[in-house]
Amino acid sequence: MIEVEHLSKYYGNFMAIEDISFKVEKGEILGFLGPNGAGKTTTMRILTGYMPPTSGTARIAGYDIFFDSLKARREIGYLPESNPLYGDMSVRALLEFFGKLRGLDKKYLKRRISEVIEKMRLEEYAETDINKMSKGFRQRVGVAQAILHEPAVLILDEPTIGIDPVQVVETRQIIKELGKEHTIILSTHILPEVSMVCQKVIIVNEGHLIAADRPENLSIGISGQDKIKAVVRGPMREVAAALRDLNGVETVDYESTGVDGTARFNVSARINRDIREDLSKLIVNRGWGLLEMQPVGLSLEDVFVKLTTKEEI
Ligand SMILES: Nc1ncnc2c1ncn2[C@@H]1O[C@H](COP(=O)(O)OP(=O)(O)O)[C@@H](O)[C@H]1O
Ligand SMILES: [Mg+2]
Repeated sequence: MIEVEHLSKYYGNFMAIEDISFKVEKGEILGFLGPNGAGKTTTMRILTGYMPPTSGTARIAGYDIFFDSLKARREIGYLPESNPLYGDMSVRALLEFFGKLRGLDKKYLKRRISEVIEKMRLEEYAETDINKMSKGFRQRVGVAQAILHEPAVLILDEPTIGIDPVQVVETRQIIKELGKEHTIILSTHILPEVSMVCQKVIIVNEGHLIAADRPENLSIGISGQDKIKAVVRGPMREVAAALRDLNGVETVDYESTGVDGTARFNVSARINRDIREDLSKLIVNRGWGLLEMQPVGLSLEDVFVKLTTKEEI
C-alpha cells in the first residue's frame, strides 16, 4: 500500500534523511520511531506531497507521489505535526471547510461529517469552537479532518504528543480502531506507543533507517547477543579488565556472588555482535572458571536506546 524507495532530502547542504526505504502492507499500522530531529516529519511531508525529495520515489496505493500526485493525495489523510486548525470555527464548520476544500460532494460531505464526529468521539463538541478545546480533543479533530474523504492511507505525525495521559490512552485506542479501515504510518518518539499500537516498526536516527521489524522481533532478534550475565571464578578485577578488552565489549560491571573467588559479571556488547564464544575462550585460556553464562534479552527500549545513541553501532 505504501512503498518508499531510497528517499533522501537535503535542506541546502544539510542532510535531513538519506536513502530511506520501507514498505507498509495494506491494513498495517507502521510505527515510525525516532528521536527529535531524526527525519520523521521530513519523510511524512514528502509522502504527503507537501515537499519534493532530493532523490528517491514513493508510491501510495500504487500511485507515484509525483507523477500521479493528485491520485496519490486522494488516498492520503494527513495529520501534520503542528495540526493547524482554525480556532474560531466550530468542529462541524471546520470539517465542512476542509471537505469543501477537498471538493467533496455536498451530500457525501454531510454524511461523512456525522460519521467522523461519531468515530472520533466528538459528539459533545460538534458545535464547540476549536480554541475552547483541549489539545487532545484538537488532535482528534485533526484526525477527523484527515479521514473525512475515506483515504486508504493515514499519515499521523506524532498524534499523541503533548496531550494529557487520559487522552493519550483514548487516542491510541482510536488509532487502533482506524487501523481496521486504513493503512497507517504513525510517527512517535515514544517507545511503548509502538508496542501498544503498531504491528511493524522502523527506527530512524539522524536521517538513517537503522532497523525495521515487528516490535516483538526487534527485541528478540538481537537478544542473547548483547547483554550477557556470566559467573566466573577468578580474580575479579583482572577478569573485568580482560573482558573489557574483548572486541565488541562496551561495558563490564561485576559483583561478588558471596561464594569465595567467584563473581557475577554483566557484560554488554555492541549490537549484533555475539561475544559468547570469545568470552568463554578467554576465561578458559586464562585458567579461570566459567561457571555460568546466560544471555539477557533486550527490551525494545534497550534496543531503541542502543540504536539511537551517538556511539558507533
Ligand atoms: N525546513 C527546514 N530547513 C532546514 N532544516 C530542516 C528543515 N526542516 C527540518 N530540518 C532539519 O532536518 C532534521 C530532521 O527534522 P524533522 O524531519 O523535523 O525530524 P523529526 O520529525 O524526526 O523530529 C532536523 O535536524 C531539522 O532541524
Ligand atoms: Mg517531527
